[in-house]
Amino acid sequence: MPGIYIHIPFCKQKCHYCNFFSVASEKYRTVFVTALLREIVRRKDYLADKIIQSVYFGGGTPSLLSVREINQILEQINSNFTLDTDAEITLEANPDDLDADKLKALKNETAVNRLSMGVQSFFDNDLHYLNRVHSGKQAVEAIEAALEQQFSNLTIDLIYGIPTLTLEKWQRNLEIFLSFDLPHLSAYSLTVEPKTALNTLIRKNKARQVDEAQSVRHFQLLLDETSRNNYIHYEISNFARPGHYSGHNSIYWVGGHYLGLGPSAHSFNGFSRQWNVSSMKQYIDADSPEKTVFEKEILTTAQQYNEYVMTALRTSWGCDSGHIVNVFGTRYRSHFEDSIRQFVSDGRIEQKGNVYLLTAKGKLFADGISAALFSV
Ligand SMILES: C[S@@+](CC[C@H](N)C(=O)[O-])C[C@H]1O[C@@H](n2cnc3c(N)ncnc32)[C@H](O)[C@@H]1O
Ligand code: SF4
Repeated sequence: MPGIYIHIPFCKQKCHYCNFFSVASEKYRTVFVTALLREIVRRKDYLADKIIQSVYFGGGTPSLLSVREINQILEQINSNFTLDTDAEITLEANPDDLDADKLKALKNETAVNRLSMGVQSFFDNDLHYLNRVHSGKQAVEAIEAALEQQFSNLTIDLIYGIPTLTLEKWQRNLEIFLSFDLPHLSAYSLTVEPKTALNTLIRKNKARQVDEAQSVRHFQLLLDETSRNNYIHYEISNFARPGHYSGHNSIYWVGGHYLGLGPSAHSFNGFSRQWNVSSMKQYIDADSPEKTVFEKEILTTAQQYNEYVMTALRTSWGCDSGHIVNVFGTRYRSHFEDSIRQFVSDGRIEQKGNVYLLTAKGKLFADGISAALFSV
C-alpha cells in the first residue's frame, strides 16, 4: 500500500527532546509551500502509477498550515498522483493550534480524515520538562473539541519515561486517554537524542536524567492498561482498536513504498532509499531539477534483510522465515533461524510455525534482539 509523507518543517518553539528537522519560525512558510508544490510535480513518477492509499502531513507542526495551504497541497497531489477514494489523510497537530474554528474548517473544508495530536502528557510539569508550548488543560480541550467536530478518527501521542513523570502520573495519563475512548494511541519512551537541547541540559546537570528502570515500569503499565481496555499492541509504540491501525505507519513496517516530500523526508521504492536535504534554504532554493538536493543509497541484500528484521520484529505480525527465504534466500534464513533460537529458548520470542514474535518479556528488549539477528 503506497503512501505519501509530507514534512512540514515549522514549529512555534523547539521541544528540548526533539531531533526532527524543523525551524522555530514561520518566516519561510509561503516560499516553503511554493517549493513543496514544485516538488510534488517533480516527483510525480516516483511511485510509478501506483494508487496512493495514505497521505500523511508530519513534522514539524502541520497544524500551523492554513486550511487554504492544506487544500493547495492536496489539490497538487490529486493532480499528479492517483489517490484511492478511501485514502487515509492524516494531519499531525499540536493541541494549541486546535480551536473549534480550526477543527471545523479542517473537518468541513479539507479532505483530512484523521488527526494525530501530540499531547505527550496531561501534566504541566512534564510539559515544562519537555519544553512543550501547550498546557495539559489545552490538550484535554483540544481532544474534546476534535470529538465535538466528529473527528472520531483521532490518535494521540504520549511520552513515558520523563523523569518528572511518576508511575501514578503515568497511570493518570493513561486513564485520561482511556476516558476519551479513542481508537488509537502512540506511546513513546523518552529518548535522549545526541544533538538535542535535552542532551546538553542533562550533561550540564540542568535537567534530570532519564531512569531506564522507571521507563520499563511505565512500559509494563502501558501494556497492562491497553490490553485490559481492548487495544491491540500492533507495534512496539502503537496501540489500536481493531480496524484502526495507522495506514501510514503500516507502510513502513511492511516494507511498502512511499514518497517523502519536504526537507529531510525519506522515500523508498523497494530497492533504493533516498532522503531530502535537511536545510530550509537549500530546499526552497531548488527551483530547477538540477538544484534538487537529496542523497540516495541502493540497499544491499544484507541491509534490506536487516531492515525487514528490525521493523517486522516490532510488529504483531512478527518476522516470517518464509518471507526471508523467498525474498533474501536460504543463507539469510539459516542465519535468522540460527540467531533467533537463543531467544526462543529464553522465552523472549514465541515461534508460531514460520512466524517469530516478541513475547511480553521480549518487548522490553526489542532493539537488542533485532541487533543480534542482523547480518553484517
Ligand atoms: C516529531 S513529532 C511531530 C508532531 C508534532 N509536532 C508534535 O510535537 O506533537 C512526532 C512525535 O514524536 C515523538 N517524539 C519525538 N522525539 C521524541 C523523543 N526524543 N523521544 C520520545 N518521543 C519522541 C513525540 O511524541 C511526538 O509527538
Ligand atoms: S516534538 Fe513536534 S512541536 Fe516539538 S519540536 Fe518536534 S516537531 Fe516541533
